[in-house]
Amino acid sequence: MKKHIVLLPGDGIGKEVMESAKAVLNTIAEEFNHSFSFESHDIGGAAIDRHGNPLPPETTAACKKADAVLLGAVGGPKWDANPSHLRPERGLLGIRKELGLFANLRPIKGFEKLLHSSPLKEEVVKGSDLLIVRELTGGLYFGTPSERRDNGQVVVDTLFYTRSEIERIVDKAFQCAQQRRGHLTSVDKANVLESSKLWREVVEKKKQQYPDVTVEHVLVDAAAMKLITNPSQFDVIVTENMFGDILSDEASVLTGSLGMLPSASLREDGFGLYEPVHGSAPDIAGKGVANPVAMILSAAMMLRHSFQLTVEADVIEDTVESILNAGFHTADLKNAGKKVGTEEMTSLIIGSIKTRSAANCIMSC
Ligand code: NAD
Ligand code: IPM
Ligand code: MN
Repeated sequence: MKKHIVLLPGDGIGKEVMESAKAVLNTIAEEFNHSFSFESHDIGGAAIDRHGNPLPPETTAACKKADAVLLGAVGGPKWDANPSHLRPERGLLGIRKELGLFANLRPIKGFEKLLHSSPLKEEVVKGSDLLIVRELTGGLYFGTPSERRDNGQVVVDTLFYTRSEIERIVDKAFQCAQQRRGHLTSVDKANVLESSKLWREVVEKKKQQYPDVTVEHVLVDAAAMKLITNPSQFDVIVTENMFGDILSDEASVLTGSLGMLPSASLREDGFGLYEPVHGSAPDIAGKGVANPVAMILSAAMMLRHSFQLTVEADVIEDTVESILNAGFHTADLKNAGKKVGTEEMTSLIIGSIKTRSAANCIMSC
């Protein structure tokens, strides 16, 4: 299979973990006889520094022509004082909007042998396996332009959704639930927000089309509590943009680290940009200690969702799990075993993929 992939490493550890994902993809290409070509472009702070724009038009144009896009992370203290239109995060929001990536799938599954890495009790984390379906191109992030009035003493951010924006993400979440354990939790703040009332109305109407899926509504504050007291009650969670952002970072503690969570940001026709849930981690950037697992698993999601390369995606996911099970871990995971850096972790994963395919060949070639 021949595919062209645009890489947007971005800033901080985004650049470091992107190297890992690219190396793993090159290994998959060699072992499974695929041809992956790569083209890197600037986004975020790197793009501000080089082009004076967090999302240069050539970056958007390249993404639109690609078969899929991989994104590292954007942001950092260097640009924190910039005016809003010159913030790295604008680049990320811009590319999501430009590409129409309305559905952000964030799977969260604690690996069996890493349960003790979570600060939560093992018996709480055990059995948790959930998917957050986060609406990604609406809500507070994309309301009418935010503004400051009265000498900056009054601020306005607006939360805006159309019925059809809610319908398409709710449909996506129902479909995901059908492919999983058939339970959907819709998270909102319908006791206060008008947007949440419409959200709940849409879910109630849509559920008639998906009789095989059970549905419950949970208010976001309670959902935050339930996620860390009884996470195994969740299968698929569907929620609006900002609630999904916050709840997914919270849910990462189930896996032991934010550095473990991958995601897929999908358009209606299935086109995808794949990005770890974490940010540019300025506190550890440049030290070679970042956990590359979230980025590598995002590349696996790309193989599965965009290229239908199920076996190859399984190989990456199984290999990552086996390396972690063997006790190798980056510093963010509180684990016994051997602490390794980004490069060593990547090499271990690559070495194991190669050994695995050599063993398969001996058995089947
Ligand atoms: P962050 O996700 O960058 O880091 C939060 C904490 O988690 C830090 O202690 C960090 O060291 C740790 N961490 C995150 N990823 C890790 C990994 N792969 N390996 C090991 N440790 C990891 O969030 P933040 O510090 O709040 O934000 C830093 C910058 O990143 C900000 O500019 C923010 O806007 C940006 N950000 C970008 C994205 C993105 O590009 N998708 C996501 C979140 C935050
Ligand atoms: C994420 C990030 C982004 C978001 C920021 C950097 C704009 O936190 O991808 O989760 O809020 O969507
Ligand atoms: Mn976030």
